[in-house]
This record gives sequence, structure tokens and C-alpha cells, in this order.
Amino acid sequence: MRAIKVLILGFGTVGQGFFELLNKVKEELRLNVVVTEIIDRRRGRILNPKPSILPDAAQGKLLGSRVDVDEIPRLIAESDADVMCEFTDLDVKSRGEPAFTYITTALRSGKHVITTNKGPIAFHYDELMELSRKYDRLVKFKGTVMAGTPSFNILNLLPGAHVEYFMGILNGTTNFILSKMYEEGLSFDDALRLAQQLGYAEADPSLDIDGIDAALKTIILSRVIGWRHELEKMEVRGIRGINIREYGDKVVKLIAYADKDRAYVRPVPLDKSDPLAHVSRNLNALRFKLDTLGELTIIGPGAGKYETAQAVLTDLVDVVNHINKSSK
Ligand code: HSE
Repeated sequence: MRAIKVLILGFGTVGQGFFELLNKVKEELRLNVVVTEIIDRRRGRILNPKPSILPDAAQGKLLGSRVDVDEIPRLIAESDADVMCEFTDLDVKSRGEPAFTYITTALRSGKHVITTNKGPIAFHYDELMELSRKYDRLVKFKGTVMAGTPSFNILNLLPGAHVEYFMGILNGTTNFILSKMYEEGLSFDDALRLAQQLGYAEADPSLDIDGIDAALKTIILSRVIGWRHELEKMEVRGIRGINIREYGDKVVKLIAYADKDRAYVRPVPLDKSDPLAHVSRNLNALRFKLDTLGELTIIGPGAGKYETAQAVLTDLVDVVNHINKSSK
């Protein structure tokens, strides 16, 4: 059987982490997959990339032919890849563009899609699922919620269970900032800078600080469960300018919540006896209330280079199994 060809679109922290991880484990996993093309605004269009490009890619060097942003949809359409892995930056103002166009172009040209970009999924879930059905191609997005830590995908292991509500800590950057403020007395700005250096924060960190990132994850989780919540109708408050001393003995966390009727993101003071109060650093936590199991809480990393690369690998294994099954 011929190798499954992968196009990587966006070769920043997540793209590099995924490329490195894939090369490390593909033999062990017997994945007959090859990255045939990388397209990145800064690093150019790189054909048949080798792992040796990684150090230069980390420095943002141009490694292939220059890419004009306007020609990216054409390059996607003309690519002979079987799978596109889309890792471009989140843009909320444009409701997930240009990533939405990239993804629809890939589906229309017969590619399966894996994305870590919350915008297209949170703003265009219905359209993407419809195109996925129409073109018989998968759209996978595990990396959009809690990186490689199981989140909505854990529901696949629980057939027949119904979610009554979920709540949790869905943004690694703000949790990291709050932890550093509590545990090491860092200022808000210093803690944010550190989160940016570690690759947790969005390209535009106000999306983290103002709660938008957590809100989009809440919307995505809700859509998978079958609830419709929209950013414009949600209460969304972040931690900009927060003074942790105001909360006395309680520990403040940026909490996301949704049930079928309402959804919000806001700072919530928690008792120290609440396990969520002890979720620290860039960790995320997600508590499902299920009719069968009661409360189920998952705690794990929700951001970072290899943490997100794990999510993409999880999705890629599903896509490869799907392709192999359909070609039998
Ligand atoms: N900026 C996000 C976070 C990255 O801090 O959680 C993962 O979605």
C-alpha cells in the first residue's frame, strides 16, 4: 500500500512539534505516513521536508520557496496530499478565517483535515460537518480542546452516557499565570511573558486573558455533545487586571461551564477543598457530569508544543485507520 501523504499548513510551535513527534514514533506505530509538503507564511513552501530542518525552522528561517498568502488556497487545492494538518493562528475577528477557507478548500479537493485551530470549529461547526459528509472526508480537531489530554474524545469510550453539564479549567495560559501569581508571587505581566515563552499563549494573548479561548473551547465541547452555544450570547469574562488578594482564602480560577441551556467563562473563587483549586501550571481540568457515571474529572496539560502534537497524532491515527479501512 502506498504511503499516506500529509500536508502541514502552518509550521510554528505546534507544526514543528508534530513533525518531530511523527518522525520519532511513526515506525513504532507502523504508520505508513509521509509529510510531503509544508506551507508556512514565514518559512516558505518546503517539499519533502527532512527532520534536519527543525533547528532552522525554530528560528523562523525561510527554508523553501516564498509563499504569497493569497496563493495558499490554490496550493492546498493542487496538493496531492491525502491529509492536511492545519496549524495556523486563531483569528476571532474574522470568525476563524483564513483557516476556514483553507479547511473547506482541503475538503473540496478530497483531503481529510486535522486542525488545532479553534476558530473554524467553534464558528463553522455545522458547515464543516456538512462538507465532511458531502466529500466523505474526516475533520478531526482533538487539539482544539485540552491538547493531547483526552477531552470530548473520552465520550467515545462511554456509549449511552449523557452529559448533564461540564465545567473546568480550559485555558492553560491563564491557569499558568494565576498559579505563578499564587505560588511564586509573580506579577501578572511577568507570568504572561513566561507563558508566551513556553508556547502556551495564543499569538494574540488577549484571547487567553480575556476568556475568549476558553469560551471557544466551551462552544466546541458543547457542539460535540449536541448543544448550541454562541460566543456572542455567552457571558465571557477573563482575568485581565485580576487582584488575587481580593479573594482572601479562596483560590480564584478561570472556570468554563456549560449545560444545554447556558454557558459561561468567568473567574470563580474556589474553596481550597475543591480539587479544581489544585489544578496548577498549564494544566487543564474538565469535569463531566454524566447520567451513568456521575462526575468524571480529567486533569492534564492543555497547551504546549508536544502536548498539542500528541493530539494531532491521536487524530492522525484515526484518519489513517479510516483510510486503510475504506480502501479495503
Ligand atoms: N492558548 C491556549 C491555552 C493554547 O493557553 O490554553 C491551547 O489551546
